Amino acid sequence: MTSTVNPDLESAVDAPAAALAATMEDPNWWRQASVYQIYPRSFADSNGDGIGDLKGITSRIPYLKSLGVDAVWLSPFYPSALADGGYDVDDYRDVDPKLGTLADFDEMIAALHEARIKLIADIVPNHTSNLHEWFQEALASPKGSAARDRYIFRDGLGPDGSRPPSDWDSVFGGPAWERTEDGQWYMHIFAREQPDLNWDNREVRDDFLKTLRFWSDRGVDGFRVDVAHALTKDLTEPLPSKAELGPQGGNNLGEHPFWDRDEVHEVFAEWRTVFNEYTPPRTAVAEAWVHADRRARYASPDGLGQAFNFDLLKADWNPRQFREIITKNLVEATSSGASSTWVFSNHDVVRHATRYGLPPVGADSDDGQDGGAWLMSGGTEPELDRALGERRARAVSQLMLALPGSAYLYQGEELGLHEVADIAEEDRQDPTFFRNRGVDVGRDGCRVPLPWTRDGESFGFGFGGAHLPQPAWFGDYAVEVQEADPSSHLGFYRRALELRRELQGEEDFEWVDEPSADVLHFTRPGGWHSVTNFGPATVDLPAGTVLLSSSPLEDGRLPGDTTAWLV
Ligand code: NOJ
Ligand code: CA
Repeated sequence: MTSTVNPDLESAVDAPAAALAATMEDPNWWRQASVYQIYPRSFADSNGDGIGDLKGITSRIPYLKSLGVDAVWLSPFYPSALADGGYDVDDYRDVDPKLGTLADFDEMIAALHEARIKLIADIVPNHTSNLHEWFQEALASPKGSAARDRYIFRDGLGPDGSRPPSDWDSVFGGPAWERTEDGQWYMHIFAREQPDLNWDNREVRDDFLKTLRFWSDRGVDGFRVDVAHALTKDLTEPLPSKAELGPQGGNNLGEHPFWDRDEVHEVFAEWRTVFNEYTPPRTAVAEAWVHADRRARYASPDGLGQAFNFDLLKADWNPRQFREIITKNLVEATSSGASSTWVFSNHDVVRHATRYGLPPVGADSDDGQDGGAWLMSGGTEPELDRALGERRARAVSQLMLALPGSAYLYQGEELGLHEVADIAEEDRQDPTFFRNRGVDVGRDGCRVPLPWTRDGESFGFGFGGAHLPQPAWFGDYAVEVQEADPSSHLGFYRRALELRRELQGEEDFEWVDEPSADVLHFTRPGGWHSVTNFGPATVDLPAGTVLLSSSPLEDGRLPGDTTAWLV
């Protein structure tokens, strides 16, 4: 876990208070923000019940401030029975009592703002939970009722309606329809506990506008919009079969009955008018797994304003792929008027320190340097090279932090944490695991509570255990251990984020060609150079002063699997 920091350039780069206050009001604050994702149930537990909570987050704000992030994206904290890690929401305008109260939320957001950190709330509009009062009302109401019209209820096929309205699969496995006691079926793209809302229903639309205002009034600065591309649906009967639909997900170009339909942008245009009622306007970022050519629509300033791209997250350890992805996304972001987004890890994928430490899977790689499966499949214990994974993770994270646009970090990646592979079946929580019977082990491995101390109860996560068991090796990665060592993964992230704040200027970007095809070199305004060596051979660096390298240089030269910044 070592990186190098130029000791002459160690000075703090604290901007004066007035400049920071201006940043808080800057309507463009999101364009190049570093955003730290908190999965609240696994961040910090204040009351020893094994579940992370809002007071736990508040208690760790000094840590977030010292890390140097501009914003926190908070995954769902609403009341939920946790059929899908909180993405099954019982009530959109409250806090899960297991996580705290609205007063705790107010206290947390005030403390974040005091620390000059923005808050982006996760919003889940495609589906409620089955325990939401609307869905309970729908179940208790007759066929054809107004209560059922908020969801997608249909009669089944066959003489007695016992076959589902279509043969569609849910994303988590198993059918996308569930039968109710009176014989009708309801649609759920995800778990059966996540009934899809009917976005043609005006009451549904109005209620979400109310929710956006509710949180914006409480000071929320922006929203991360879950499954933004699935809200509007064309379910004109007869419904097409899944064979007629082709693969799930992207590449549908507006033709699919529920993925990425054009009408969805009418919904987001309404949301935009609400965002613009505030100063600065509330921001939003779409989670939309759509064809790259259609992503700009979500990022339009008349819509959500920004959209995730997961292209780097899926890339192999391959400089050519990285270069193509970066070029394409920068062009695309410019075309929508948005800035780009970059991400290597989140709560849905195998942590990138692990992905880059797995042996090549090869199949989709043109040079055998594959970054490893991005969603691990179960059954076998992978041969993980931890040190290599951490070294490469630091190199690509440093590259990402030099790119124009917003950088999204996932809790624990600043520690170089790895995926937890060995979780017993009885401890697993993710519905993906249970719906596939372990074919895909699911996402629990990246959601294990963070280690704060080397030893002690749940490694300092709380004082009463952890809702997902932590492995013994977690202690080696603890915040406490790494804080003592500036060359640690954490020390490296802190310095990289500090320098990014100092160096970040206009969004301009230019590639610089290098003799070796293994090297990616680009410049940013102000003479900031970022050079990444993907290959095995040590290479020369361009002239300049090295500010930071993700692994130690060798006689002033850049070794393999390393990024350096120079001015
Ligand atoms: C995307 C979220 O990131 C994921 O965790 C969730 O399971 C699905 N949307 C369904 O809400
Ligand atoms: Ca707790």
